[in-house]
Amino acid sequence: MSKLVDAAIANEVLYERIMKPMARRTLINTAEKNGVMWREEAKALEANAEVYARFDALKKAEVTYPEYYLKPFHAYAEGNLCWLAAFEAQSATYSMALRVWPKDRITAEEAQKRLRDSYTDMVRAHRARHGAESEIEPKKILDVGCSVGMSTRYLSDAFPTASVVGLDLSPYMLAVASVKDEGEPGSEKRSWVHGKGEDTKYADGTFDVVSLAFVIHECPEYATADLMKEAHRILKPGGTFVMTDNNPASPVIQKLPPALFTLMKSTEPHSNEYYTIDVQQMLKDAGFEHVCQEQTDPRHRTVCASKKRK
Ligand SMILES: C[S@@+](CC[C@H](N)C(=O)[O-])C[C@H]1O[C@@H](n2cnc3c(N)ncnc32)[C@H](O)[C@@H]1O
Repeated sequence: MSKLVDAAIANEVLYERIMKPMARRTLINTAEKNGVMWREEAKALEANAEVYARFDALKKAEVTYPEYYLKPFHAYAEGNLCWLAAFEAQSATYSMALRVWPKDRITAEEAQKRLRDSYTDMVRAHRARHGAESEIEPKKILDVGCSVGMSTRYLSDAFPTASVVGLDLSPYMLAVASVKDEGEPGSEKRSWVHGKGEDTKYADGTFDVVSLAFVIHECPEYATADLMKEAHRILKPGGTFVMTDNNPASPVIQKLPPALFTLMKSTEPHSNEYYTIDVQQMLKDAGFEHVCQEQTDPRHRTVCASKKRK
Protein backbone atom coordinates (compact mmCIF):
# COMPACT_ATOMS: atom_id res chain seq x y z
CA MET A 1 0.00 0.00 0.00
CA SER A 2 2.80 2.38 0.93
CA LYS A 3 4.57 1.62 -2.40
CA LEU A 4 1.30 2.34 -4.20
CA VAL A 5 0.99 5.69 -2.39
CA ASP A 6 4.63 6.48 -3.26
CA ALA A 7 3.94 5.75 -6.93
CA ALA A 8 0.80 7.88 -6.85
CA ILE A 9 2.76 10.77 -5.30
CA ALA A 10 5.41 10.45 -8.01
CA ASN A 11 2.69 10.89 -10.64
CA GLU A 12 2.49 14.70 -10.78
CA VAL A 13 -0.94 14.91 -12.37
CA LEU A 14 -2.49 12.43 -9.96
CA TYR A 15 -0.82 14.00 -6.93
CA GLU A 16 -1.33 17.69 -7.78
CA ARG A 17 -4.79 17.49 -9.34
CA ILE A 18 -6.44 14.75 -7.31
CA MET A 19 -4.62 13.64 -4.15
CA LYS A 20 -3.54 17.05 -2.83
CA PRO A 21 -6.94 18.79 -3.23
CA MET A 22 -8.66 15.73 -1.75
CA ALA A 23 -6.33 15.62 1.25
CA ARG A 24 -6.78 19.37 1.74
CA ARG A 25 -10.58 19.15 1.62
CA THR A 26 -10.56 16.30 4.15
CA LEU A 27 -8.20 18.22 6.46
CA ILE A 28 -10.34 21.38 6.40
CA ASN A 29 -13.69 19.58 6.73
CA THR A 30 -12.42 17.49 9.66
CA ALA A 31 -11.02 20.58 11.37
CA GLU A 32 -14.29 22.49 10.96
CA LYS A 33 -16.30 19.53 12.23
CA ASN A 34 -14.10 19.69 15.35
CA GLY A 35 -14.79 23.37 15.92
CA VAL A 36 -11.72 24.87 14.21
CA MET A 37 -13.04 27.72 12.06
CA TRP A 38 -10.51 27.16 9.28
CA ARG A 39 -12.08 29.02 6.32
CA GLU A 40 -13.61 31.77 8.44
CA GLU A 41 -10.27 32.51 10.13
CA ALA A 42 -8.34 32.55 6.83
CA LYS A 43 -10.93 34.84 5.21
CA ALA A 44 -10.88 37.29 8.11
CA LEU A 45 -7.08 37.52 8.03
CA GLU A 46 -7.05 37.96 4.26
CA ALA A 47 -9.43 40.90 4.60
CA ASN A 48 -7.43 42.56 7.38
CA ALA A 49 -5.36 45.41 5.88
CA GLU A 50 -3.19 45.57 9.02
CA VAL A 51 -1.63 42.19 8.15
CA TYR A 52 -0.10 43.62 4.98
CA ALA A 53 1.14 46.73 6.80
CA ARG A 54 2.87 44.54 9.43
CA PHE A 55 4.47 42.48 6.66
CA ASP A 56 6.07 45.63 5.22
CA ALA A 57 7.21 46.75 8.67
CA LEU A 58 8.67 43.39 9.77
CA LYS A 59 10.27 42.07 6.57
CA LYS A 60 14.03 42.61 6.51
CA ALA A 61 15.48 42.94 3.03
CA GLU A 62 18.84 41.56 4.20
CA VAL A 63 17.41 38.17 5.27
CA THR A 64 18.30 35.50 2.73
CA TYR A 65 16.51 32.16 2.50
CA PRO A 66 18.46 28.89 2.57
CA GLU A 67 17.79 26.57 -0.37
CA TYR A 68 16.17 23.91 1.86
CA TYR A 69 13.57 26.47 2.97
CA LEU A 70 12.39 27.28 -0.55
CA LYS A 71 10.77 23.88 -1.13
CA PRO A 72 7.01 23.28 -1.09
CA PHE A 73 5.89 22.50 2.47
CA HIS A 74 2.53 21.27 3.75
CA ALA A 75 1.20 21.18 0.20
CA TYR A 76 1.78 24.94 -0.31
CA ALA A 77 3.85 25.37 -3.49
CA GLU A 78 5.67 28.36 -1.96
CA GLY A 79 6.08 26.62 1.40
CA ASN A 80 6.07 28.99 4.37
CA LEU A 81 6.61 32.00 2.12
CA CYS A 82 3.01 32.73 1.15
CA TRP A 83 -0.14 34.28 2.59
CA LEU A 84 -2.30 31.15 2.47
CA ALA A 85 0.18 29.22 4.64
CA ALA A 86 0.17 32.06 7.16
CA PHE A 87 -3.61 32.51 7.15
CA GLU A 88 -4.14 28.79 7.75
CA ALA A 89 -1.27 28.15 10.20
CA GLN A 90 -3.24 28.62 13.41
CA SER A 91 -6.05 26.30 12.26
CA ALA A 92 -3.51 23.71 11.11
CA THR A 93 -1.81 23.91 14.53
CA TYR A 94 -5.11 23.43 16.37
CA SER A 95 -5.91 20.44 14.15
CA MET A 96 -2.48 18.91 14.80
CA ALA A 97 -3.05 19.02 18.58
CA LEU A 98 -6.51 17.48 18.22
CA ARG A 99 -4.96 14.53 16.38
CA VAL A 100 -2.80 13.79 19.44
CA TRP A 101 -5.83 12.80 21.53
CA PRO A 102 -8.35 11.50 18.96
CA LYS A 103 -10.42 9.61 21.52
CA ASP A 104 -10.70 12.33 24.16
CA ARG A 105 -13.68 14.61 23.91
CA ILE A 106 -11.72 17.85 24.20
CA THR A 107 -11.87 21.15 22.35
CA ALA A 108 -9.10 22.36 20.05
CA GLU A 109 -8.09 24.90 22.71
CA GLU A 110 -7.90 22.21 25.41
CA ALA A 111 -5.78 19.97 23.18
CA GLN A 112 -3.46 22.86 22.37
CA LYS A 113 -3.09 23.74 26.06
CA ARG A 114 -2.27 20.14 27.00
CA LEU A 115 0.37 19.97 24.30
CA ARG A 116 1.98 23.29 25.23
CA ASP A 117 1.78 22.78 29.01
CA SER A 118 3.69 19.51 28.75
CA TYR A 119 6.42 21.43 26.86
CA THR A 120 6.75 24.39 29.22
CA ASP A 121 6.49 22.11 32.29
CA MET A 122 9.53 20.21 31.04
CA VAL A 123 11.50 23.45 30.58
CA ARG A 124 10.66 24.50 34.14
CA ALA A 125 11.57 21.06 35.56
CA HIS A 126 14.86 21.02 33.62
CA ARG A 127 15.80 24.48 34.89
CA ALA A 128 14.88 23.48 38.45
CA ARG A 129 16.99 20.32 38.22
CA HIS A 130 20.06 21.92 36.69
CA GLY A 131 20.08 25.51 37.90
CA ALA A 132 19.91 27.60 41.05
CA GLU A 133 16.49 28.37 42.55
CA SER A 134 16.88 32.02 41.50
CA GLU A 135 17.43 30.98 37.87
CA ILE A 136 14.27 28.93 37.29
CA GLU A 137 12.32 31.85 35.83
CA PRO A 138 14.00 32.85 32.56
CA LYS A 139 14.36 36.54 31.78
CA LYS A 140 14.84 36.29 28.01
CA ILE A 141 13.44 33.60 25.72
CA LEU A 142 13.93 33.13 21.98
CA ASP A 143 11.28 31.12 20.12
CA VAL A 144 12.95 30.08 16.85
CA GLY A 145 10.46 29.19 14.09
CA CYS A 146 7.61 30.91 15.93
CA SER A 147 5.28 30.84 12.90
CA VAL A 148 2.08 32.73 13.79
CA GLY A 149 3.12 32.95 17.44
CA MET A 150 1.23 30.16 19.18
CA SER A 151 4.33 28.59 20.75
CA THR A 152 5.57 32.10 21.63
CA ARG A 153 2.40 33.03 23.49
CA TYR A 154 2.36 29.79 25.48
CA LEU A 155 6.01 30.29 26.48
CA SER A 156 5.22 33.85 27.44
CA ASP A 157 2.20 32.79 29.53
CA ALA A 158 4.21 30.05 31.26
CA PHE A 159 7.06 32.44 32.09
CA PRO A 160 5.25 35.73 32.59
CA THR A 161 8.26 37.70 33.81
CA ALA A 162 10.30 36.93 30.67
CA SER A 163 10.55 38.96 27.49
CA VAL A 164 10.02 36.63 24.55
CA VAL A 165 11.21 37.08 20.97
CA GLY A 166 9.45 35.12 18.22
CA LEU A 167 11.84 34.70 15.29
CA ASP A 168 10.89 33.23 11.93
CA LEU A 169 12.16 33.14 8.35
CA SER A 170 8.67 33.81 7.02
CA PRO A 171 7.57 37.46 7.16
CA TYR A 172 4.07 36.24 6.23
CA MET A 173 3.85 34.18 9.44
CA LEU A 174 5.30 37.04 11.49
CA ALA A 175 2.79 39.54 10.10
CA VAL A 176 -0.06 37.27 11.24
CA ALA A 177 1.66 36.65 14.62
CA SER A 178 1.96 40.37 15.21
CA VAL A 179 -1.66 41.17 14.27
CA LYS A 180 -3.06 38.29 16.36
CA ASP A 181 -1.00 39.36 19.39
CA GLU A 182 -2.21 42.95 19.32
CA GLY A 183 -3.98 43.78 22.60
CA GLU A 184 -3.49 40.27 24.07
CA PRO A 185 -2.46 40.15 27.74
CA GLY A 186 1.32 40.35 28.01
CA SER A 187 1.81 41.39 24.37
CA GLU A 188 4.13 44.21 25.48
CA LYS A 189 6.66 41.49 26.46
CA ARG A 190 6.58 39.79 23.05
CA SER A 191 8.31 40.93 19.87
CA TRP A 192 8.50 39.51 16.34
CA VAL A 193 11.72 39.31 14.37
CA HIS A 194 12.38 38.30 10.78
CA GLY A 195 15.51 36.18 10.86
CA LYS A 196 17.26 32.88 10.40
CA GLY A 197 17.56 30.47 13.33
CA GLU A 198 21.06 29.42 12.30
CA ASP A 199 22.32 33.03 12.05
CA THR A 200 20.21 35.13 14.44
CA LYS A 201 22.61 38.11 14.72
CA TYR A 202 22.16 38.17 18.52
CA ALA A 203 25.23 38.60 20.72
CA ASP A 204 26.78 35.60 22.52
CA GLY A 205 24.98 34.74 25.77
CA THR A 206 21.81 36.78 25.14
CA PHE A 207 19.06 34.29 26.14
CA ASP A 208 18.11 32.08 29.10
CA VAL A 209 16.01 29.77 26.93
CA VAL A 210 16.07 29.00 23.19
CA SER A 211 13.04 27.05 21.97
CA LEU A 212 12.43 25.20 18.69
CA ALA A 213 8.89 23.84 18.69
CA PHE A 214 7.98 21.75 15.63
CA VAL A 215 10.80 23.27 13.55
CA ILE A 216 13.42 20.55 13.19
CA HIS A 217 11.27 18.20 11.09
CA GLU A 218 11.27 21.01 8.49
CA CYS A 219 15.08 21.07 8.32
CA PRO A 220 17.75 18.86 6.75
CA GLU A 221 20.36 17.43 9.12
CA TYR A 222 23.03 20.06 8.40
CA ALA A 223 20.56 22.88 9.16
CA THR A 224 19.53 21.20 12.43
CA ALA A 225 23.21 21.02 13.43
CA ASP A 226 23.62 24.73 12.59
CA LEU A 227 20.46 25.64 14.55
CA MET A 228 21.83 23.82 17.60
CA LYS A 229 25.25 25.52 17.31
CA GLU A 230 23.65 28.95 17.03
CA ALA A 231 21.33 28.25 20.00
CA HIS A 232 24.38 27.24 22.03
CA ARG A 233 26.21 30.46 21.10
CA ILE A 234 23.36 32.83 22.01
CA LEU A 235 22.42 31.04 25.27
CA LYS A 236 23.83 32.27 28.57
CA PRO A 237 26.00 29.73 30.44
CA GLY A 238 23.51 27.42 32.21
CA GLY A 239 20.81 28.41 29.68
CA THR A 240 18.27 25.92 28.38
CA PHE A 241 17.76 24.57 24.87
CA VAL A 242 14.36 22.97 24.28
CA MET A 243 12.79 21.38 21.23
CA THR A 244 9.69 19.34 20.56
CA ASP A 245 8.55 17.41 17.51
CA ASN A 246 7.21 14.02 16.44
CA ASN A 247 8.71 11.19 18.44
CA PRO A 248 9.92 8.58 15.93
CA ALA A 249 9.88 5.96 18.73
CA SER A 250 6.37 6.67 20.01
CA PRO A 251 3.94 3.78 19.64
CA VAL A 252 1.49 6.08 17.79
CA ILE A 253 4.03 7.02 15.11
CA GLN A 254 5.38 3.44 14.97
CA LYS A 255 1.90 2.07 14.39
CA LEU A 256 0.81 4.60 11.75
CA PRO A 257 -0.23 2.67 8.66
CA PRO A 258 2.75 2.88 6.23
CA ALA A 259 0.54 4.39 3.51
CA LEU A 260 -0.57 7.19 5.84
CA PHE A 261 3.02 7.76 6.99
CA THR A 262 4.15 8.02 3.34
CA LEU A 263 1.37 10.51 2.62
CA MET A 264 2.27 12.52 5.73
CA LYS A 265 5.93 12.66 4.71
CA SER A 266 5.06 13.70 1.15
CA THR A 267 4.31 17.26 2.35
CA GLU A 268 7.48 17.50 4.45
CA PRO A 269 10.56 17.59 2.18
CA HIS A 270 13.12 16.99 4.94
CA SER A 271 11.28 14.76 7.37
CA ASN A 272 13.09 11.61 6.16
CA GLU A 273 16.26 13.12 7.65
CA TYR A 274 14.43 14.14 10.83
CA TYR A 275 13.31 10.56 11.43
CA THR A 276 16.87 9.22 11.23
CA ILE A 277 19.00 11.77 13.10
CA ASP A 278 20.10 11.34 16.71
CA VAL A 279 18.95 14.64 18.19
CA GLN A 280 20.45 13.95 21.63
CA GLN A 281 23.89 13.10 20.22
CA MET A 282 23.77 16.18 17.98
CA LEU A 283 23.10 18.37 21.03
CA LYS A 284 26.10 16.85 22.83
CA ASP A 285 28.20 17.46 19.71
CA ALA A 286 27.07 21.11 19.77
CA GLY A 287 28.51 21.38 23.31
CA PHE A 288 25.40 20.90 25.47
CA GLU A 289 25.19 18.89 28.71
CA HIS A 290 22.27 17.44 30.73
CA VAL A 291 20.63 16.32 27.47
CA CYS A 292 17.38 14.56 28.24
CA GLN A 293 14.35 13.48 26.28
CA GLU A 294 10.79 12.71 27.38
CA GLN A 295 7.74 11.61 25.51
CA THR A 296 5.57 14.57 26.51
CA ASP A 297 2.39 13.40 24.77
CA PRO A 298 1.37 10.30 22.81
CA ARG A 299 2.96 11.58 19.55
CA HIS A 300 5.71 13.99 20.53
CA ARG A 301 8.99 14.09 22.39
CA THR A 302 10.55 17.09 24.08
CA VAL A 303 14.32 17.34 24.40
CA CYS A 304 16.01 19.71 26.86
CA ALA A 305 19.72 20.47 27.26
CA SER A 306 21.86 22.98 29.14
CA LYS A 307 24.77 25.12 28.04
CA LYS A 308 27.76 24.31 30.24
CA ARG A 309 28.76 26.92 32.82
CA LYS A 310 32.46 26.51 31.79
C1 LIG B 1 5.61 24.04 12.01
S1 LIG B 1 6.06 25.69 12.22
C2 LIG B 1 6.34 25.79 13.96
C3 LIG B 1 5.33 26.59 14.65
C4 LIG B 1 5.48 27.02 16.06
N1 LIG B 1 6.81 26.97 16.63
C5 LIG B 1 4.51 26.23 16.92
O1 LIG B 1 4.98 25.45 17.75
O2 LIG B 1 3.32 26.39 16.76
C6 LIG B 1 7.73 25.80 11.68
C7 LIG B 1 8.17 27.26 11.51
O3 LIG B 1 9.58 27.28 11.48
C8 LIG B 1 10.00 28.27 10.56
N2 LIG B 1 11.39 27.94 10.18
C9 LIG B 1 11.83 26.83 9.53
N3 LIG B 1 13.16 26.87 9.40
C10 LIG B 1 13.58 28.02 10.01
C11 LIG B 1 14.85 28.61 10.21
N4 LIG B 1 15.95 28.02 9.77
N5 LIG B 1 14.91 29.79 10.85
C12 LIG B 1 13.78 30.39 11.30
N6 LIG B 1 12.55 29.88 11.13
C13 LIG B 1 12.45 28.71 10.49
C14 LIG B 1 8.99 28.18 9.45
O4 LIG B 1 8.94 29.37 8.68
C15 LIG B 1 7.69 27.90 10.22
O5 LIG B 1 7.00 29.08 10.50
